[in-house]
Amino acid sequence: MVETTLIILKPDAVQRQLMGRIIARFEDKGLQVVGAKLMRITEDLAGKHYAEHEGKPFYAGLVKFMTSNPVLVLAIRGDEAIEVCRRLLGKTNGIEADPGTIRGDFGLSKGYNLVHGSDSAKSAKRELELFFTKDEIHTYEQTVGAWIT
Ligand code: TYD
Ligand code: MG
Repeated sequence: MVETTLIILKPDAVQRQLMGRIIARFEDKGLQVVGAKLMRITEDLAGKHYAEHEGKPFYAGLVKFMTSNPVLVLAIRGDEAIEVCRRLLGKTNGIEADPGTIRGDFGLSKGYNLVHGSDSAKSAKRELELFFTKDEIHTYEQTVGAWIT
């Protein structure tokens, strides 16, 4: 089933100039970038995005980090994109994330773990609506990754 998911290249990914290499992971897999926006997340938006974590010990630091510098917000589309992207990201903690995953290849941190990806269809819908208007998400023909006869 074709799905669209929300991916955020977090402030550390932008600051470390890893944007191109991380986007390439999704494109190489055959997924399509259908929305993209470099933006500074406000405290209010960070709070809404991470509402499920409010009250947890890492919450304040998480909001501070996510609002500290610009992020690149992406809408990524493709077959089973939500699950596929979560697997491309790897486990939350860079130390535990498998080599070959984004978090596994680029870091050793749990907090500064480079990328966010929606964890379910419900989260994806909610998060895409938080970060994008309808007209900021595009539909266009994909030619790479198709079987060519
Ligand atoms: P979580 O939703 O558990 O992870 P994921 O991003 O893999 O879905 O947590 C959200 C973010 O909060 C996580 O990406 C990094 C941060 N975090 C910490 O800083 N410390 C922690 O112990 C946890 C669980 C998360
Ligand atoms: Mg999560």
